[in-house]
Amino acid sequence: MDISPQSPLPVLRLVTRTLRGQHTSDGAGVALTRVIGGSGLSMIDPILMLDVFHSDDPDAYIAGFPDHPHRGFETITYMLAGRLRHRDNKGHEGLLGPGDVQWMTAARGIVHSEMPEQEEGLMRGFQLWLNLPAKDKMGPARYQDIAAAAIPTLRRGGATIKLLAGRVDGVDGPIASAATQPVILDLLFDAEDELDLPIPASHHGFAFVYEGQAEVSGTVVPADHAAVLGDGEWVHVMAPAGTRLLLVAGHPLHEPVARYGPFVMNTKEEIFQAVQDYNAGLF
Ligand code: FE2
Repeated sequence: MDISPQSPLPVLRLVTRTLRGQHTSDGAGVALTRVIGGSGLSMIDPILMLDVFHSDDPDAYIAGFPDHPHRGFETITYMLAGRLRHRDNKGHEGLLGPGDVQWMTAARGIVHSEMPEQEEGLMRGFQLWLNLPAKDKMGPARYQDIAAAAIPTLRRGGATIKLLAGRVDGVDGPIASAATQPVILDLLFDAEDELDLPIPASHHGFAFVYEGQAEVSGTVVPADHAAVLGDGEWVHVMAPAGTRLLLVAGHPLHEPVARYGPFVMNTKEEIFQAVQDYNAGLF
C-alpha cells in the first residue's frame, strides 16, 4: 500500500455520540419514535428528521396522517411491514407495501395524506426528512413511488445492502437529490460479518440500528440507537447475524434553518409566508 504523504490513508469515521429516539406521536395520533428532529438531536445537516413507526397494535397507527401540508424539503418513506396509502393534492396516489419507498419533494408545497391500508397486523417503517437548499425550496413539488423490486440489492459476505440512495460498487440507488447527494443504505446481516463502506468526506451522517446490535467504527450501538458519525471517508460496520441498520448521510447545506411543524425554510418570515399560503389554499 502506498502511504506516501501525497496519498494519505482514508480516514475512518468514528462515532461522536450515540442516542436513543424519543417516543412521541404525530398525525392523528400515530405512535412513533423520533430519532432525529426532536429535542435530543434537532438535525444532522441536511437530515432534518428520522421517525420510526413500529407497532402491531392498530390503536398505535390506525388514525394515520390525514391531509397535512409540507414545504421546503423532501420526505423519504421506507416501509418494512404493512401498507400505507398516499394521496396528494397534485393528483398522485400510491400504495406503499413492504420494502417500497416513497420519495416526495415537497418544495413549494404539497398537501397529502398517509393512511394505513390495514386494520390489524404489523406496521413498520421509517420516514426521513431531507432538507432542500434555499434555491430549490420554492421549486415544483415532485412525487415518486419506488417499488421494492426496483431497489438495487448487493450481497457482500454475510450482509445484504439495499441501496436506496448513493453509490456502492458502481451501482446507484434510485433516490438522487442534486444538492444533498444522499446516501441511504439498509444493511441486513444474516451471518456475522464486517463491512467497510465509503461515505463522501463532505457528508454528515449517522447509523441507526433497528435490529440486533452493531459495532460502528469500534463503538457498540444497541438496537433503537443512532450513532452520529464524525469526519472521515469510510465507516466500518461489524455485526452478528440478525442485525439490521440504516446508514444515512448527505452533503450539508450550511444554511440557516427555520422550522415550524411541516414547514422548513431559511427565515421566520418565510415560515409566516408558508402558513399564510397554506391557509389561502395556495399549496
Ligand atoms: Fe407527510
